[in-house]
Order: sequence, then structure tokens, then C-alpha cells
Amino acid sequence: MNLFKIIYSGKDQYLDLAENMVKKVIEEKGKDAPVKFPSTAYALPVIYAITGEKITTTGELEKALDLAKGFIHEGNRLQNALDAGTASAMLAEIIEAVKYTLDDEPYKAPLQGHLTDAQIRAFGVPLVTQDIPGVAVIIGKCKDSKTAADIIKEYQEKGLLTFLVGEVIDQAIEENVKMGIDLRVISLGYEIESVIHVVSVAIRASLIFGAVEPGDFEAHKAYTKNRVKAFVNVFDDWDDKIIAAGAAAIELGFPAVTETFINEVPTLLLHQPDNSKVIETSLEVRNIKIKVTKIDIPVGVASAFEGERIRKNDMYAEFGGSKTKAWELVRMKDMASIEDGKIELVGPDIDTADKVPYNLPFAVVVDVAGKSMEEDFEPVLERRLHYFMNYIEGVMHIGQRNIAWIRVGKESFERGLRLKDIGKVIYAKMKAEFDTVVDKCQVTIYTDKAQVEQLEQELAFPKYRARDERLATLIDENVDTFYSCTLCQSFAPAHVCIVTPERLGLCGAVSWLDAKATKELDPTGACQPVPKDGVEDEEKGIWTEVSKAVDVASQGAVSRVSLYSIMEDPMTSCGCFECICGIMPEANGVVIVNREFGDITPVGMTFGDLASMTGGGVQTPGFMGHGRHFIGSKKFMSAEGGLARIVWMPKELKDDVRDRLDAAAKEMYGIDGFTDMICDETIASESETVLEFLESKGHPALTLDPIM
Ligand code: SF4
Ligand code: NI
Ligand code: NI
Repeated sequence: MNLFKIIYSGKDQYLDLAENMVKKVIEEKGKDAPVKFPSTAYALPVIYAITGEKITTTGELEKALDLAKGFIHEGNRLQNALDAGTASAMLAEIIEAVKYTLDDEPYKAPLQGHLTDAQIRAFGVPLVTQDIPGVAVIIGKCKDSKTAADIIKEYQEKGLLTFLVGEVIDQAIEENVKMGIDLRVISLGYEIESVIHVVSVAIRASLIFGAVEPGDFEAHKAYTKNRVKAFVNVFDDWDDKIIAAGAAAIELGFPAVTETFINEVPTLLLHQPDNSKVIETSLEVRNIKIKVTKIDIPVGVASAFEGERIRKNDMYAEFGGSKTKAWELVRMKDMASIEDGKIELVGPDIDTADKVPYNLPFAVVVDVAGKSMEEDFEPVLERRLHYFMNYIEGVMHIGQRNIAWIRVGKESFERGLRLKDIGKVIYAKMKAEFDTVVDKCQVTIYTDKAQVEQLEQELAFPKYRARDERLATLIDENVDTFYSCTLCQSFAPAHVCIVTPERLGLCGAVSWLDAKATKELDPTGACQPVPKDGVEDEEKGIWTEVSKAVDVASQGAVSRVSLYSIMEDPMTSCGCFECICGIMPEANGVVIVNREFGDITPVGMTFGDLASMTGGGVQTPGFMGHGRHFIGSKKFMSAEGGLARIVWMPKELKDDVRDRLDAAAKEMYGIDGFTDMICDETIASESETVLEFLESKGHPALTLDPIM
């Protein structure tokens, strides 16, 4: 059978099913029932991106069918077949939308189905840092479960985000593959239509990070092809619907590799019958390069294990977490005093356990030396310890400094993991990630109670204190250089962050010290110094040289920024921000909502709705993406009156920022306990009741100049 005929036949099957389902849902719910996927601001995102039309009701689904049919014109040219693929994708989205209309929860754990906007935004940072180097979509069923697990685990160890569709899900479950969105292995669903949920992820990346206009399908295709490094693997016999879906993938720039013979289309559709070569073939055709440091320990080490949780019952040993002391320190030393590669354990190892879970005191001291190393980089390196330990399979790390909390799982202990292995990982990662500043590194782990206690007093506390003092003096006024960060340009081409001591990158992951260290590590890389010259308005945070730097780094897209204003030339957003802030005019202030918060805010919008108002490196006065840490800063929209403008935040966010926010508000306005004057969802989320609360508290925003 010829390839085009297969695609057309697959498309016909989607069309039949979609038409029947639309008919059914209209019969059941009438024409006015709302149609939507959970927590997205982009309606039916694929159809919205392709056509610019937001489909929101059951009645409009008929229009959606017509829009899909507009791509159907069978013929002998490749574009005819690819258009049939596009039609299939739109029809699959209609089918899935009907499922979500007929049932609130059509996909139940472990199936994922639709991903929310917030879930996609959370992938932003790992994607731009190449921590997630690509996206694999596995469809079908491998010849046996072991093969499936081997392939999925290898993708996982390489850091890829892997989506599963079909019986391969059961195979992965059978082999105990660690799955879940945090572990980067996501089971979409059993039916082929569910593959649309990963297409939706790619398309929304284009809408969110790329700020590509809905309806400009050519631009969306260019975005997904060039910036979303996805590909498809099809196992076992394919059917017509799978191949039609494959055509849709190819049209977006995602090549497909099949196990069963198919007529190949070079670089787009490949046949790879040898299971042991499918990963190599896929990575090659998508040009995905993996940088791995192979570390010789008994368990896996991969960024995909970062999200792994270790529950009480699975725990073999535990350090910290209020049961014992646990702290960590990176310190700079001179070259001569370090023996590179030395890993030492002082005290008992975990195999001396007399009971499980085994609670031991713990300290890890990482000594580093290098010609370009600076004391300022110590905390930057130290914060990475959290990630390095978390990358170890069966090791969970929480916290930092002397509130570190580490768990080691039973399974990993049984596979032979010991404390020195943790030291080995820290050593290898330090050398790999910080190669230009760390020439020599040695790791000492202490579990001896007396030493852990003594060194905490003599070594750790004085260091922490000195750093805190340094940070306290690190305010924007005291430096003559800011840094630009353009890391997110791989996804948001026009976006630039200006990172200052008081305003960290909106992703929350890049502080001024991080940016400074990044510049040292990679002199021509993503972070570049920006002189704080040519002051135009100190209040609003406008400097000629800063604006110039943004103009250059954004290729002319943005030519003027004010760092401390959200109304006048505010800093742009890429899409991966931790928080979004938007104006609540009647309260004369702003609401801030963090990515994790799913409910509606008093401005009538969710995080996703608010977030969709900005992004892609475009300046949108009145909306600002920012990091959590910025909330305690005296520079937070200081042009508009500062922190006193904050009238509403989710409770969790309030509690997280309370200490710094209270201290800053006390200093700025002489107010005690300012955080408690801010409303949250446990108090009120309706405009009117929020206002009543603010009035009862005498919230300062109410007496400030009108915000707009
Ligand atoms: Fe992206 Fe800004 Fe964070 Fe850099 S600082 S990674 S540009 S969000
Ligand atoms: Ni882990
Ligand atoms: Ni970003």
C-alpha cells in the first residue's frame, strides 16, 4: 500500500470518530456546554495555534470539524499527505476535548492525558539549560517488557522527557520503571488519540515561550521544528491511524522511527528494526547531543531522578530532618592543600546499621581550588549539591546548609550504594559542571557525631554567617555591574533578563552571583556583564547602558527597560517565571500568583490565564513574571510604590516569603507583620470580599496614588 493512502485512511478514521463524538456530546449536552482542557489559557491549543480560533463550546466543535476538514485535499504531493496529518491532529484534539467534556477526569493515574500550562512552564528551565536534551514519544508495544523498560530507562538516564502511548505503558509498569511527570516518564493514554497531548505541549511551547501568534501555523511549525527537539518511536505493527499521527508529527518537524517496515522518507520517516539501535537512530536524526559524565557507582545518576521521592517505608537511612544534624559546605582552599579526587568518609558507613531506618549525623565538606575560583562562587557551587545528590537514583535531598535532609532508599542500598559513592558523584559533577573554576576538588563526608558537631561550630557557621553578611550588603546601589541572561533565548528568542543583586532572574534559578559565576565559567556565554552607566531615572531603574544591552541582546525587539517598574517599559518575560504579578485596579494594587497555585485569583484569572498575557520576550505593562525571591526586595515595582502594592497572594507563597517581606516592609514603611495584611485564598478570592479584608486591615495600597 502506498504511504499516502495509509495516511489518508488513518485521517478518515479520525474524521469518523470525531464526527460521531461531536454528535454524541451535542446530543447529551446541547450546543452551549463549555469545552475545555484543564488549566490552559489556550482553549484547544493545537486548533488555536493552527487556525487562531478558540473553540470553547460544544456547538463550536462543529466549526472545529470544518476547520480540520479545510486541511483535507487528498493528492499525490507530499504536502497533501502532511496536511492530512495536520487534519488528523486537529481531529484527535476534538476527540480528546469531547472526552474531557463528557467526563471530568477521563484519564486516571497513572495516565496523564492533558498537561496543564503550569506543568509546561515548569519544564522551561531544564529545557533551556539542556538538562532535558530532547523529547521522546513512544507509541505501541515493544516485543517484550524488558525491551520497553531498557529503552525508556535509557532515555530517562539521558535526561529526555519521554511520553508513552499504548500498551508500552503496561510494559513499563510491569518492569517497575520509575514513572511520573517529575521523573520525566509520562504515560499519556492507551488510545492513539492521546498522543495529541504531547503535540499540545510542543504547540503551547511555541505560544508561551515563542510568543508566536495564534493562526500563524507556518511560524508555529518553524518554532517546533527548530526549538522542540522531539521525535517519535513506533514499536510493533503500525496501523493507519498511527501513521497519520506520524504525518502530523513530521509536519511539526518531529521525525518518526518505526520498528515495522515502512517506505522511508529520508530524515523524516525511518525504519529501524533493531531495538538496540533505535535510541541512537532517533538522537541522530534529531541531532540531539547528550553530555554525560559516566560515574561508576552501583546505581544510576541522572537529572531525571531529581524528582524522585523516597517515602518512609522505602527508606534505608536518613540524615537530618530533625532527627540528626546534617549540613553541607563548599569552601575554597589553596591549590596545594587539596588532593584532587580524594573522597574520604570519617565515621561509620550505612552498612553498620543496627536498625532501619538508620539515622546518622551527616556533614559533607567539599574543598575546591582553582585559578579562577572566587569566594563569591562558594554558595553557587554549594547550592548545586542539592541537585547532584538528587540525581542519584534512590537518594533524596532536601534543603541546604545546616537544614539539609537526605534519605537513601532500601533498593539502592541493596544494590550496593554507600556513602563514598555520594562523594564520588559530587566530585565528578563539580568537575564537570564547573570545569573552568574548579581545578581540584576533594570531598569529605563525616558521620562521626562529635566531628559533625564540632565542625559545624568551627567551620560551617562562621562561613554561613560571613556569606549572609556579604549578601546583606549586596544591593543594587552597591554594585557597578548587572548581568544579562539570555539562556531562555533558545525558547523565547527575544527575551533577556537583567539580573541585579536584588532582582534575580524570573525563573528563580539565576541570582546575581550565579550570573557572575556563569560569566566566569563561560566568558562568551549566556550571562554578560552590563555596566550600570548612564542613569536616567534611579527610581524607575532606567540606565542608558542597560537599555542598550537589552536592545542588543534582544536583537532590537526591546530597546528600553525600567528595572523597577511594571507599568513603564517593564522587563520582559520568557514564560518560565516562578510567579506572575498582575494589576487589581479596584484594590489599587497587584496580585501575585505562583505556578503551583491552580485556582482562580481575585482578578478573575488563574495563573495560566495571567501568564498567557505576557511572555515570549514581549513587554506587557501591567504584567510581570518574576522569581519568588524578588517579593522580599525593596526594588519590587518600587516605581509604583513598592511592596505596599501587593494585595493578594496564595497562602503557600505568603508563608514562603513572609520573613523577608515583613522585614522589608518594616524598613520601608514601618509596618509590622505586613504579610498578614495581604489577602489569600483562605480568606477571600472574590473582588468584593478581598476589598473588605484590605479595608479591615488598613492595607497601605488603598491610600497610594491610583495605580493606573
Ligand atoms: Fe531564563 Fe532569565 Fe532565568 Fe536566564 S535568568 S534562565 S533568561 S529566566
Ligand atoms: Ni534521587
Ligand atoms: Ni525562561
